[in-house]
Amino acid sequence: MSGAGRRSSSDDLILARELALHAERPVVFTGAGVSAESGIPTFRDALTGLWAQYDPEQLATEAGYRNDPALVWRWYASRRERIAQAKPNPAHDAIADYGRRKPRLQVITQNVDGLHQRAGSADVIELHGSILRVRCLDGCAGQAVGWESDPRVPPLCARCSAPLRPDVVWFGEFLPEAALARAQRAVTECDLMIVVGTSALVYPAAELPFSARRNGSEVITVNPESTAVDEIARVMLAGKAGDLLPRLLGA
Ligand code: APR
Repeated sequence: MSGAGRRSSSDDLILARELALHAERPVVFTGAGVSAESGIPTFRDALTGLWAQYDPEQLATEAGYRNDPALVWRWYASRRERIAQAKPNPAHDAIADYGRRKPRLQVITQNVDGLHQRAGSADVIELHGSILRVRCLDGCAGQAVGWESDPRVPPLCARCSAPLRPDVVWFGEFLPEAALARAQRAVTECDLMIVVGTSALVYPAAELPFSARRNGSEVITVNPESTAVDEIARVMLAGKAGDLLPRLLGA
């Protein structure tokens, strides 16, 4: 059962499956761990290769971008390239399949990789934006989606010639209001929240499971490691999302 120690007995999986099967208004809330088996490093993984000497908290900030737009742009271009070559993994597929059986499922993600959408999940709430979109650094235009992108230098805004920037939430920035409002509404209504692959360290996103619990929702966590969310979880499934979600959500 849940509680100290990270192990999942088959009883846990049976109970979690029951909860997922009978939920009427489920929410799946994901972090970088759901994309780990697609080969996308999690945020708390140390940056590797060319970027090993940088700290994401230095690169993923407006100050970092204004200080060296080309450097930060190249880092995002390399991440976009990695994402373009990545594929949704069985965790993304299981969530998309679950959504086809549970029309009221709401997927809320902290990830910017678009893999839930590529797996077929509809209407994904992207709390931290999307690396596949760009917008004007000086905020003058709406979101551009595609653009002629030279991986070395940021393209310039057609309206004010400021550099375009990735349409993601950088450290110290507010979350997109509409996405956050939708997520907060979803967690007041859900009867089950499945929390997958997040360290639950970054607010306000990390508040969502606790809000859901306060509103009477059951909570299931799926993560190889323990996180603060385990304190409020009815069931903790210890392991990889790509392995556990097909078993948890499969028809
Ligand atoms: N399956 C499930 N969980 C996994 C897997 C896996 N295969 N591999 C790793 N994890 C777990 C880790 O144990 C960790 O708890 O995924 C979590 C990843 O945590 P972070 O790297 O902190 O990513 P995340 O929680 O999404 O970070 C939230 O912080 O850096 C900011 O904006 C960034 O959206 C990000 C936010």
